[in-house]
Amino acid sequence: MQLHKNLILVLMACLPLTGVASGQGGLPEDYCRWEVEDYAIAEPLCGLAGDVQRGQEIASDGNRGNCLACHQLPIPGIEAYGTIGPPLAGIAARLSVPMIRLRVVDTRNINPVSIMPGFYRDPRLINRPGEEYRGRTFLTAQQVEDVIAYLTTLK
Ligand code: HEC
Repeated sequence: MQLHKNLILVLMACLPLTGVASGQGGLPEDYCRWEVEDYAIAEPLCGLAGDVQRGQEIASDGNRGNCLACHQLPIPGIEAYGTIGPPLAGIAARLSVPMIRLRVVDTRNINPVSIMPGFYRDPRLINRPGEEYRGRTFLTAQQVEDVIAYLTTLK
């Protein structure tokens, strides 16, 4: 009897969580699911190939990637950058592409309290005030792959 009671308590504790996940509507149609293995995402999002030049532009664009708000990037002529995150020069020598992918997609899989935004986090898990942003990722799958292609050149 005690066992059943505990089981019911556990189930009740889980209910609010499932409510949050399904309460904000479903996933957008073009959202590609991704899988984490060994702290990495092996497959490119939606099977897309990234573009290095576009990736550099997105990474340094304050309205899109905004990576410069927290990271130094080795782009000539850029003097203002944040130091909340580690400099990204040489990142491809430190991390494999699949490891970089998980860090850009949703780094909370590695560090649950990270302040870095999950740029392709499941939008149902993103708490946002504005109705118009619901169900959207911070970057598109193509933009994420572009940024990764750029980071891959930083050896
Ligand atoms: C709000 C600040 C913030 C923004 C914006 C941000 N990051 Fe980060 N990032 C961090 C922090 C802090 C870390 C250190 C690890 C942690 O705390 O999660 C990190 C870690 C990383 C790492 C792993 C670095 C290493 O040496 O292990 C990569 C790669 C990375 N970020 C890429 C990016 C890219 C690409 C962008 C832009 C698309 C970006 N970050 C935007 C804060 C940020």
